[in-house]
Amino acid sequence: MADNITFTMIKPDATAAGHTGKIIDKIIGSGFSIRAMKWTRLSKEDAEKFYAVHRERPFFGELVEYMSSGPIVAAVLEKNNAVEEYRKLIGATDPAKAEAGTIRALFAKSISANAVHGSDSNENAAIESAFFFSAREFA
Ligand code: CMP
Repeated sequence: MADNITFTMIKPDATAAGHTGKIIDKIIGSGFSIRAMKWTRLSKEDAEKFYAVHRERPFFGELVEYMSSGPIVAAVLEKNNAVEEYRKLIGATDPAKAEAGTIRALFAKSISANAVHGSDSNENAAIESAFFFSAREFA
């Protein structure tokens, strides 16, 4: 499994607050290259499928409502050891616990409106990238 690719979404809170450009700037400034990117919106069904692994969690309904509430930016990022490096860059899921200077510490509002998603494994990076992008959309 490739270890140089991760998948991210800039979430509805961050696109609505006008943070998209600043977040992309920070991603590129931290040494990631963009392999694919799109501005789009998830339907409830899309969000349910994307987050199916969390289906049994108490916050699943809230997560699906929230992720389909506005536009997102989906992107595939490349860097050596991309999954781990990107998780360091975005910080802890709960922005209150995210290290200073991380994307979530800078831009997130709450544990559900937490500015960005980042894949948690190489396997999920490949699955999540394929959810949004066809092979033709990679550059
Ligand atoms: P993400 O990295 O996109 O993966 C799953 C998401 O579920 C996570 O970010 C959070 O936004 C959300 N999440 C995790 N825990 C909670 C929680 N306790 N309450 C609400 N949302 C949560």
